[in-house]
Amino acid sequence: MNYFEPLTRFVDLTNGTIPGAHVVQRRYLEDLRGLFADTAAEAALLDENPLLYEVHEAAVIPKEDGHLLFSTTVVRPGTVGEEYFMTKGHYHARADRSELYYCLAGEGLLLMQTPEGRVDAQPMRAGAACYVPPYWGHRSINTGNEDLVFLAVYPADAGYDYGTIAEGGFAQIVVAGAEGPRLVPNPRYLGSGARD
Ligand code: F6R
Ligand code: ZN
Repeated sequence: MNYFEPLTRFVDLTNGTIPGAHVVQRRYLEDLRGLFADTAAEAALLDENPLLYEVHEAAVIPKEDGHLLFSTTVVRPGTVGEEYFMTKGHYHARADRSELYYCLAGEGLLLMQTPEGRVDAQPMRAGAACYVPPYWGHRSINTGNEDLVFLAVYPADAGYDYGTIAEGGFAQIVVAGAEGPRLVPNPRYLGSGARD
């Protein structure tokens, strides 16, 4: 038997980074071009092209059935127009693969959506363990003034389907209101059939 070796990574709880992380992905506004509802605000902010979030992949683990991958995500605070900074959002390429997010710092919402466009939003704050069941698309949104930091653990063969969200969007978006964050219908939502 060729055993994979056990390992440990330490998450820096002051900033969500993982010293020794083998990959750090940085996503800027231009990487999410077209995903924010307020296109004029998005275009205006593209000159500045702020960093929206980073993903720190903990270790090199085979992307095979049986293994788990784990990573931290650090979403910066801010808005595009009234809409909070967020991740791109995706379904898993193997759509029946689930995921667990464990929130370490900050405040936000984990927005989830079935392929039919039914939306759910779970609270994210330090200590929240949020379950993403099979088939639900997911996006995290920073509704606070500090970094939103969470650890994600997911089957190594889950993969990513970004296209369905990129083309059809989420049915709802999260905007800053006088009384805090609120969910409103996404005026640009086309549905998961947008690619057909
Ligand atoms: C993995 C997962 C997270 C996200 C990360 C960035 O399945 O859900 O690690 O990949 O929070 O979000 P996306 O991938 O949507 O840019
Ligand atoms: Zn995922």
